[in-house]
Amino acid sequence: MKAKQGLSTKCVHAGKTVCGRVAPVASPIFQTSTYYYPKEESAGYIYTRIENPTQEVVEEKIAALEGGREGLVFSSGMAAITTTVLSTVGEGGHLIAFEDLYGNTYTFFKSGLEKYGIDVTLIKAKDATGIGRFIRKNTKAVFLESPTNPLMRIVDIPKVAKVAHKKSVKVIVDNTFATPINQRPLELGADIVVHSGSKYLNGHSDVISGLMAGNRENVQEIKELRTTLGGCLDPHASYLLQRGMMTLSIRMAKHNDNGQRVAEFLENHKKIDRVHYPGLSSHPDHELAKSMMHGFGGMLSFEVKGRRKEANRFLKELKLLLAAPSLGGVETLISVPAETSHSYLSRKERLGQGIKDNLVRMSVGIEDFQDIKRDLNQALSKI
Ligand SMILES: Cc1ncc(COP(=O)(O)O)c(C=O)c1O
Repeated sequence: MKAKQGLSTKCVHAGKTVCGRVAPVASPIFQTSTYYYPKEESAGYIYTRIENPTQEVVEEKIAALEGGREGLVFSSGMAAITTTVLSTVGEGGHLIAFEDLYGNTYTFFKSGLEKYGIDVTLIKAKDATGIGRFIRKNTKAVFLESPTNPLMRIVDIPKVAKVAHKKSVKVIVDNTFATPINQRPLELGADIVVHSGSKYLNGHSDVISGLMAGNRENVQEIKELRTTLGGCLDPHASYLLQRGMMTLSIRMAKHNDNGQRVAEFLENHKKIDRVHYPGLSSHPDHELAKSMMHGFGGMLSFEVKGRRKEANRFLKELKLLLAAPSLGGVETLISVPAETSHSYLSRKERLGQGIKDNLVRMSVGIEDFQDIKRDLNQALSKI
């Protein structure tokens, strides 16, 4: 029997390109929009919106890492999500989604999908156990993120999948925060995984991209719609993405280590009211997180003592760490969700979701922990 490869090996080796007699170690960039037909038999490529060998390197890597049969790469995480959902649910269908979602996903579900004849029910993470009562005859899929943004709540993927599958409903998981290094939803029972590749998978804050993985039937259906909607990734960006993915495993090990140490440091800091990190035993879903995840990642949030003014003051005082939205890069990024990722919600809706004015979200990078700690400490001493 062929030995199963480890994740670090898959990051490096999955998706190799061989061009005729040339076998380059580094992946070539097939910077072409179209392909001519040589006299010998053609390799079958027609047009880069449909297929491109540099895109395929990324697609083979994500399929190998997530444990799916096949994968697809997209021009953004939102292109991956919109194409996957439109294809999987379709006109006349019904989607159930957990409401703790990335902002653009939330608005697409809340007000965008009805234009395409798709009904949506938004539910709370605590409804995971009773999800069966939301399933209708025309329900095609359940969509969730875990850990959620920014409170890092954990949804019980095996439980949701068990109930959904009894009614032939597919489960789609946005695995952007965890990455396949820390959590593999397909192994936990999900049918389709989607990602913003702009975050950890690329890892260097210099590419916008998206990915999905699943079985052949699901992927081929979604690929047809990707070809029509046109959300494929440019070959040069595909090259950068596959280059980033090669170091995903070692980057995640450092994000996990720094994330845990920063969470523990902040939890004991007198200027902090509360820390939300699934690796802390004080986190309400710590036991569930332990059962599903192989590491707790670099994403966390915390409430500084005071209000929004104090949260903003803290950000202004940072000297090394960067006040910026987005996440998953090698550098630590810090933002106030009330002003960035969750500014699309009314204050009432936001507070209803537990996202307070003094909440700060942190994407802990791979810098030395002592340097991160020093900067946090000096900025906190100013509020
Ligand atoms: C969890 C999550 N999913 C999807 C997206 C959308 O990805 P992109 O910005 O690559 O379109 C984001 C972006 O922040 C995200 O955080």
